[in-house]
Amino acid sequence: MNKTLNTILESSKIFTQEGNVATYIPELSKANPNNLGICVVALDGKEYYSGDYDKKFTMQSISKIITLMLALMDNGEEKVFSYVGAEPTGDSFNSIANLEVKNIHKPYNPMINAGAIMTTSLIIGQTIEEKIGRILDFTRKLSNNNDISIDQNTYFSEKETGDRNRSLAYFMKSYNSMQGKVDDILEIYFQQCSIEVSCIDLARIGAVLANDGVLPWSGERVISKHICRITKTIMVTCGLYDASGEFAIHIGIPAKSGVGGGILGAVPKEMGIGVFGPSLDAKGNSIAGIQMMQKLSKKLNLNIF
Ligand code: DON
Repeated sequence: MNKTLNTILESSKIFTQEGNVATYIPELSKANPNNLGICVVALDGKEYYSGDYDKKFTMQSISKIITLMLALMDNGEEKVFSYVGAEPTGDSFNSIANLEVKNIHKPYNPMINAGAIMTTSLIIGQTIEEKIGRILDFTRKLSNNNDISIDQNTYFSEKETGDRNRSLAYFMKSYNSMQGKVDDILEIYFQQCSIEVSCIDLARIGAVLANDGVLPWSGERVISKHICRITKTIMVTCGLYDASGEFAIHIGIPAKSGVGGGILGAVPKEMGIGVFGPSLDAKGNSIAGIQMMQKLSKKLNLNIF
């Protein structure tokens, strides 16, 4: 497997020269576009890797699956989906269009920014610190990594430049569709996006999802099978935003991307995958990361369809 990953990584390096690193969050513009890493975690707990697999980057939108699972565990499916929909948009991740024009009370899905901010608002806790602490603890548990923490520079950068997210949140608040204090909810959202991970962490989280909520390394159940199924389904339909359809056709793996350059994949009953390449396409997805996922899917016949 390590040999396969090396071959895939080497043949994808050329794609790191395409696209651009994210700049709308200034701290992300410091990323090195030449970085490229991949990790696979099998369901027997074995780990395989190549390239910059241990390089740290921020989760960004990949954190949306963590908060979705936590919100579902805290509130149940019925309540969560009374606040946020489960339909793909065909629009960009930070679009306000559907919210204003189609359904003012309910963002389309928990993977776009509006939907993720709504999901975050549903996480239980007395204080901001308690809520972010729960998100961090859950991420640590799923990645078997107690060192996971928040990159403060990215967090401050997100906070300083997060006006689109503020507009989305205030819009939802103005129609009374979101409960709680906007500033507090955004504080948590900016921090969850700034959680630092490596490809190994992403692949381990993917392996837990692939294993229906049971930690492959200890046998402990941490998420119900049902919540894992909801999460993987939403990853298929909305995980790469308005590129989710093409990704499903060519790769066919439940996945979630982030503008930090990471993509997390969960191949049911098979493996978790983490890839990292910070140069993005116009839709905010890692170009070389998608290439690696596609090659891996073809080589190992991972397409679930
Ligand atoms: O809120 C934002 O815009 C970022 N913190 C996260 C967006 C993101 O990762 C979209 N993913 N491709």
